[in-house]
Amino acid sequence: MTLQFKPSETFRDTFTYAKTAEDILRFPFPFPEDEYMYSVNIEPHVKGGPTAAFQAVFDIDEHYVAECRERAKVLAEDPKRCQVLPHMMAAEWDTLELIMESLAADYPEHFTLTKAGDLWTWVNRPLGLQQSFTFGKAETLPCPPFEFITRQAQGDFTLQDQREDNLFVDGGMVTTQADWSLEFDIGMTFHEWHGPVPLAHEKGVFDRALKYLMRLQCGQPVRRLNWTMTVNPRLDTSPENYPVWGPDKATVTPENVAEKVHLRVELQTLFRLPRSNAILFGIRCYLTSVADIARVPKWRRRLHRVLRDLHPDIIGYKGLPRYRQMVIDHLAPFDDGVPTSRGI
Ligand code: HEM
Repeated sequence: MTLQFKPSETFRDTFTYAKTAEDILRFPFPFPEDEYMYSVNIEPHVKGGPTAAFQAVFDIDEHYVAECRERAKVLAEDPKRCQVLPHMMAAEWDTLELIMESLAADYPEHFTLTKAGDLWTWVNRPLGLQQSFTFGKAETLPCPPFEFITRQAQGDFTLQDQREDNLFVDGGMVTTQADWSLEFDIGMTFHEWHGPVPLAHEKGVFDRALKYLMRLQCGQPVRRLNWTMTVNPRLDTSPENYPVWGPDKATVTPENVAEKVHLRVELQTLFRLPRSNAILFGIRCYLTSVADIARVPKWRRRLHRVLRDLHPDIIGYKGLPRYRQMVIDHLAPFDDGVPTSRGI
């Protein structure tokens, strides 16, 4: 199906973001069971999966152009949302190559990459861009290679250097995050940047996940889903901007809860990069309102049960206390109490 982009939709102020019926059905619903607890839920990132969001290496949807515009706005307000430490230049080029080759292969009608030795030409039709450059020579691009390509992708990205038996977050493009800060985390180790997460440290989740990632192989990417909730379809819920979006939580009422509150899912992907041996971490964010979730019978029952039975520490960490009960009350009439079968 050819994508119909919606370039003028907004993720702030007027919030004109909306999903077509097709876009709702491609949402990567995150709960395979009626209850939720942190786990090492990592699987191979292969094509296929429960919805169309899993059909490409880097998923593009109807919000692509609008999300790239939103990213440009955030960067204009706060350039530090994109930072890469100087020793990561090889990883920057690795990222540019991986994203360009993947987009051109998965969406040939929208993106083309041609190579004549090191002289590459990149065409991005949805954004109206054409750029020739010399691979490996940053001065031939209008901005550094990691920034150049991640300005043209949906979702956030971080770069992890592997050394001293650990991973260090040594770069990133982070404009659509669920309340964490690249400026604060940059240079931290795997356990340090996960410091605020409750329960998972004691359960050994981060020890096991780090061991797994240290052995990640080139050409065998993996993925996992993470989720939280956001009031209004706002992409930029950063700590830097908390004064802008924090007060939104107090605007939820039983009358508007279904339209205002969104399930925020991150399709996270991890790639070993060939030259740098770094790991690229993609955090592709999808927002779907409770009203749209409620259109799918299995999803509305599941979300009701997960929220109702969620561990109090996770409720607090995800920032749900102000409106969680309203979402549960809204979804309860849709829940017949019959256990759902495993799977999405
Ligand atoms: C949360 C980064 C990989 C599990 C987070 C947070 C960050 C982050 C910044 C928010 C922490 C805060 O509150 O400040 C990353 C990066 C990764 C990575 C850069 C790339 C290597 C993983 C993996 C797992 C994982 C492989 C697998 C178990 C979690 C969990 C949370 C979390 C369970 C809590 C999420 C929530 O409840 O909303 N991660 N992470 N992360 N991460 Fe990771």
